[in-house]
Amino acid sequence: MNASEKLFEARALSAFYGRVHALKPTTVWVGEGEFVTVLGPNGAGKSTMLRAMTRLTPATGRVYFRGRDITGLATHERAREGVIMVQEGRGLFGQMSVRENLILGAYTMTGSDTAEQRLESVFALFPRLKERYEQVAASLSGGEQQMLAIGRALMARPKLLMLDEPSLGLAPRVASEILETLGRLNGEGLGILLVEQKAPQALKLAKRVYVLSLGAVVAELPAAEIKSHHELSRYYLH
Ligand SMILES: Nc1ncnc2c1ncn2[C@@H]1O[C@H](COP(=O)(O)OP(=O)(O)OP(=O)(O)O)[C@@H](O)[C@H]1O
Ligand SMILES: [Mg+2]
Repeated sequence: MNASEKLFEARALSAFYGRVHALKPTTVWVGEGEFVTVLGPNGAGKSTMLRAMTRLTPATGRVYFRGRDITGLATHERAREGVIMVQEGRGLFGQMSVRENLILGAYTMTGSDTAEQRLESVFALFPRLKERYEQVAASLSGGEQQMLAIGRALMARPKLLMLDEPSLGLAPRVASEILETLGRLNGEGLGILLVEQKAPQALKLAKRVYVLSLGAVVAELPAAEIKSHHELSRYYLH
């Protein structure tokens, strides 16, 4: 794949917490409309990698969006380009309503459509949010909060959606519903970089997979090949 077909690329991205080298120089990319899953055990550096990509954590290395060097852009400027992250723990405003949380997601609005139009498309994707739109975020169930966090990210009309363990702590059925929705969004052309610890379903959706361990990429392969990789399939498919 040549550079122009890459939606997003981080080259030699590296991050420290004090003296802890949490992310060793790492090169990771997502193609246009591609679904990429990042796997790895606790403490492998998955969240650090996403945070470094969106510059929520200081990092060295370079970051490209559609072939353009965006290393110098701050988090909100990267968001305006279309690089949006749904953080672990969801980062919602608990005392604000579903609607207010969603509207805040449109703060980078550029395009020609209105916030109301964007709200309607989020509600079409997650009808449960529509039923609860005046309710405060803190009173939602875990699954509904995750839907709201994703809905808020979608309000910015991302080109690349990064998600940090969206299924964490959710009942399997709800987690599955959320992952299915990600598959649907990817089907509409949205690039997705999904971090999950252990999720056979996340591998079914993915085209390509990175495996992180101790702050470094230890494997990169087409998702379909995980099955024939003895160690990886034993660990990640059961
Ligand atoms: N704010 C911080 N200060 C110091 N060390 C940190 C900080 N955040 C993470 N670390 C350390 O960096 C390493 C990578 O952490 P990170 O959260 O990126 O891993 P992870 O793969 O997302 O793990 P998990 O699956 O548990 O979410 C770990 O050793 C962690 O203890
Ligand atoms: Mg994490």
